[in-house]
Amino acid sequence: MSVKDEIIKEKLPRHVAIIMDGNGRWAKSKGSERLFGHKRGVNAVRQVTEAAVELGIEYLTLYAFSTENWNRPKLEIDGLMLLLMTSLESELKTFINNDVRLRVIGNDKLPKEVQKRLKSVEEKTAHCKRLTLVLALSYSSRWEITNCVREVAQKVSEGKLNVADINENIVSENMATAFMPDPELLIRTSGEQRISNFLLWQIAYTELYFTQTLWPDFGKEDFYKALVDYQGRERRFGKTSEQINN
Ligand code: IPE
Ligand code: IPE
Ligand code: MG
Repeated sequence: MSVKDEIIKEKLPRHVAIIMDGNGRWAKSKGSERLFGHKRGVNAVRQVTEAAVELGIEYLTLYAFSTENWNRPKLEIDGLMLLLMTSLESELKTFINNDVRLRVIGNDKLPKEVQKRLKSVEEKTAHCKRLTLVLALSYSSRWEITNCVREVAQKVSEGKLNVADINENIVSENMATAFMPDPELLIRTSGEQRISNFLLWQIAYTELYFTQTLWPDFGKEDFYKALVDYQGRERRFGKTSEQINN
């Protein structure tokens, strides 16, 4: 019996976010270069995306490259950008066949040719409806929040928005993630228990799931296990257990 059978279809999260961590350590444990770990990490992305499509999850957000990751050695960054370029090319057909729409969130610091390729895949999958796969690339939450503040201030200064009307919805609507609901579940692999500048605003009430498994080893069964764990939790949103169960 697979853990999959324990998943309650009616209680699936609409949006799952993942901090894909541990590629470098995975490669090191095999006596290989870090980049080999990133390459195998693409396999894990394929597995989890497929599982999300099969289950009917609507949004899957993957933290693939943070603004802080620009501080890594140039060789690793170049390797990652190249891997991104080739993966986008090889996966496009699968995206379309599986009805997967690609969207990207992050700042505009990616190399021009990478931006172009991303835009092209976003356009070619814009009609896809089953799963929205969101790649956080050159993303950091503090960048996103700062950008949001700038946009809201701009609207105020242009007279399009009153200061008194600024509320939580206005903030959410001016985030890069405005097109989707907040994630109900956030998974981080590799044993690290931190957020690393990911979706700080959006995870206010998200359930957090940490696993020791390194990202290249993370497969469908691990994904199902995280979902079953999530479904066993009581989400109280500040209320009491009695209120929730009545
Ligand atoms: C996650 O794996 C992938 C990226 C951040 C691009 P890491 O490369 O951080 O792997 P570890 O944490 O060093 O093992
Ligand atoms: C977070 O992983 C970013 C991504 C998974 C893309 P890192 O490996 O860069 O995080 P820290 O720096 O160890 O917290
Ligand atoms: Mg890491």
